Amino acid sequence: MLKVRADRVGRCFQIRNRQGGRDVLSVLDDFNLDIREGEFISLLGPSGCGKSTFLNILAGLDDFDQGSILVDSERLKKRNFDRGMVFQSYALLPWRTVLQNLEIGLEIRRMPRRERRETAQRYLQLVGLSAFAHQYPHQLSGGMRQRVAIARVLAYRPNLLLMDEPFAALDAQTRESLQIELLRIWEADKKTIVFVTHSIDEAIILSDRVAIMTARPGRVKKIIDINLPRPRSEDIRNSLEFARIRQAVWLLIRDEVGKTEQSQRIRA
Ligand SMILES: Nc1ncnc2c1ncn2[C@@H]1O[C@H](COP(=O)(O)OP(=O)(O)OP(=O)(O)O)[C@@H](O)[C@H]1O
Ligand SMILES: [Mg+2]
Repeated sequence: MLKVRADRVGRCFQIRNRQGGRDVLSVLDDFNLDIREGEFISLLGPSGCGKSTFLNILAGLDDFDQGSILVDSERLKKRNFDRGMVFQSYALLPWRTVLQNLEIGLEIRRMPRRERRETAQRYLQLVGLSAFAHQYPHQLSGGMRQRVAIARVLAYRPNLLLMDEPFAALDAQTRESLQIELLRIWEADKKTIVFVTHSIDEAIILSDRVAIMTARPGRVKKIIDINLPRPRSEDIRNSLEFARIRQAVWLLIRDEVGKTEQSQRIRA
């Protein structure tokens, strides 16, 4: 079953140029991607190639100008409570405590109060922040805020989970333990996850498939199947197969990162 079909999607932005006029920046062009129900798919690509733009479009937070997107065989709707997003920056409400932030999605789902509280506490424990339940976001470190944002979306249990570099701001140990935790949760209820990362290792450890994007305008250059056994643990990094996949992915990405650097030099 297909969860998402992105067919020849295009997205342009109008930007100001140095002369005060307007230029058109083509961010996604001829972007094609089929996402299967229940799969864990990662998007890898150079900075600025349109990964967040695509996720924002899927989340209904941004528009696209060309092509079509189907979610559950229906044209993408702007508002849909079945999707949940973890942003590149944490997006917590400053006037709510950590626990109250976790409860936002559950309130939208109209979960009864006591169940809401229990669920929020359970997921807070999962990310190791029970002791901070009644603090406000400004009293937490950046990594802790991101863990709250992750716990919030996991507690919400959307059918389509969109994660934009959710672990980028975390220290290495927390990052690794949350990767494994995320896999455990995903293996338990197999919701579709679209995960953006800059880390090749992270993409391989987590995913069923890794979609590698070109430099801007972004499109899917190649999809690599990750046939490593599950459940996976950190040890998988030491396997020969892991090294082989890593090398293949790296070669595909290297050219695209080179193109981005070149175009930035030309513009500078
Ligand atoms: N609202 C906007 N208006 C104008 N340009 C935008 C807008 N949003 C994104 N862009 C531009 O679109 C391009 C792609 O941005 P996007 O955030 O999707 O990249 P990304 O692949 O997520 O990069 P990164 O890996 O650095 O997060 C960038 O050049 C960015 O400047
Ligand atoms: Mg981004």
